[in-house]
Amino acid sequence: MIPVKTIEWIGGLDGVARLIDQTLLPGELRYLDVRDVETMWEAIRMLRVRGAPAIGIAAAMGMVLAVRDCAPDRRDAFLAAVERAAAYLNSARPTAVNLSWATRRMQSLVIRHPDLSVEALKWRMLDEAKAMVDEDNAVCQAIGRLGEPLIRDGDSWLTHCNAGGLATAQWGTATAPIYMAHAAGKRIHVFADETRPLLQGARLTAWELQQVGVPVTVITDNMAATVMAQGKVQGVIVGTDRMAANGDFANKIGTLGVAVLAKEFGVPFYVAAPTSSIDMRLASGEAIPIEERRPEEVSEGFGRRTVPPGVRIYNPAFDVTPHRYVTAIITERGIVHPPFHEGLRALFERLPSSQP
Ligand code: MRU
Repeated sequence: MIPVKTIEWIGGLDGVARLIDQTLLPGELRYLDVRDVETMWEAIRMLRVRGAPAIGIAAAMGMVLAVRDCAPDRRDAFLAAVERAAAYLNSARPTAVNLSWATRRMQSLVIRHPDLSVEALKWRMLDEAKAMVDEDNAVCQAIGRLGEPLIRDGDSWLTHCNAGGLATAQWGTATAPIYMAHAAGKRIHVFADETRPLLQGARLTAWELQQVGVPVTVITDNMAATVMAQGKVQGVIVGTDRMAANGDFANKIGTLGVAVLAKEFGVPFYVAAPTSSIDMRLASGEAIPIEERRPEEVSEGFGRRTVPPGVRIYNPAFDVTPHRYVTAIITERGIVHPPFHEGLRALFERLPSSQP
């Protein structure tokens, strides 16, 4: 069975960006048709669409929505609208580099074609946004093919948050090797960390693995040590929102703890990282901006107050895992082993135009 489509464009320039409203899962599978850039900004900010590659695609579609009504004979106003839309969408969430990667890609498309009319540029932007969906599918499937041999028949792997189909256009980064192993007939079982405070592991990863028929067990985040100590985990695989040039990477809060545990218990720890999530401009993970979210996500998660009123809350949405905890990085271009600095540099030297 094929994972569901997380986001796609329906129709022509007057069409809609259709996305699964992930805040409603697992209770309800409802699609949201987004028709304007403000609604797209809100959808990204509120995690209706989430996960680094998916918000990149959403931002690209948001750029189309922002400029499609620009007057065809007012080029300056159109160019200004492109710039404004990029800055606006980039402000929705700071950590995942895919967001600004996608808006930059749309901006550079416009800059590269001074010969085209405003109307032609709008269509080119739409084609580019649609192409990102196809590319994302190809990238995730390549990660899946490369990562699948790491999984042995009968293995249990642990994952944190949701780096699955719901975090991309369809296949997921961390889940792609799992889906491929499952399709190849290997018996693979997944431990999904619940992932406090917003429960992406319990609500989303468990949901999508169940849809495809992969056996999954949800554990609360503080149970990861126990399942590893009990020898129940043969591998860990996570995604990333932004990886620095040395292999340090940001991912959902709690990933660092899982990585430290994996090292302690001798469990290989893999990061599935499309090259669009690797920010070669950052030397190390220290420079990755970390999103801090509303305290109520911790104190009143899912409608019930669990912290006394007046108590301070700290709610960073991501943490940074130093590269020394990483066994290997699975990109669509190959598996990178330590030393990551050299491996990633070599990868990007073969890919000169991949970062707009
Ligand atoms: O806050 P979220 O739900 O957008 O966080 C998502 C994650 O941390 C994912 O693990 C990450 O984006 C990798 S996506 C393939």
